[in-house]
Amino acid sequence: MAIRNIVKEGDPVLTKVCRPVEKFDQKLHVLLDDMYETMTDGEGVGLAAPQVGILRRIFVIDIGEGKIECINPKIVKTSGVQETSEGCLSCPGEFAVTRRPMYVTVKAQNRYGDQFTINAEGLLAKALCHENDHLDGILFKEHVIRKIKPGEKI
Ligand code: CO
Repeated sequence: MAIRNIVKEGDPVLTKVCRPVEKFDQKLHVLLDDMYETMTDGEGVGLAAPQVGILRRIFVIDIGEGKIECINPKIVKTSGVQETSEGCLSCPGEFAVTRRPMYVTVKAQNRYGDQFTINAEGLLAKALCHENDHLDGILFKEHVIRKIKPGEKI
């Protein structure tokens, strides 16, 4: 495994729409392992492939409840609203209050290509929306309702 360089805001790679994964091969598994190591090293709860310069529909999440790998994910249902603080490893030191769904259902493939479904709420729902946005070139700033000043507690 290896820690990869995290692309920062301003790099055009973060504004692109990613392509689906077609090959569930060793190269994908290495990428997923590297992404997870890069995410945990950066103390993030999620990381999408474009953040390491790979324009494919892949993200990893771990909100402290174990690793989730999503390939070719689709958000198929959302409900409710949450307004909580959010940040991004590509925007270091910047935090803001965003508006996101409280509940989401995501269908995705695992690293072997098998389909699975996640029903999530709260922080996990927020993380799934945040990472899925990255695959369409969208940063969390598009969902901001209020900026948070350095040191401010919400
Ligand atoms: Co992000």
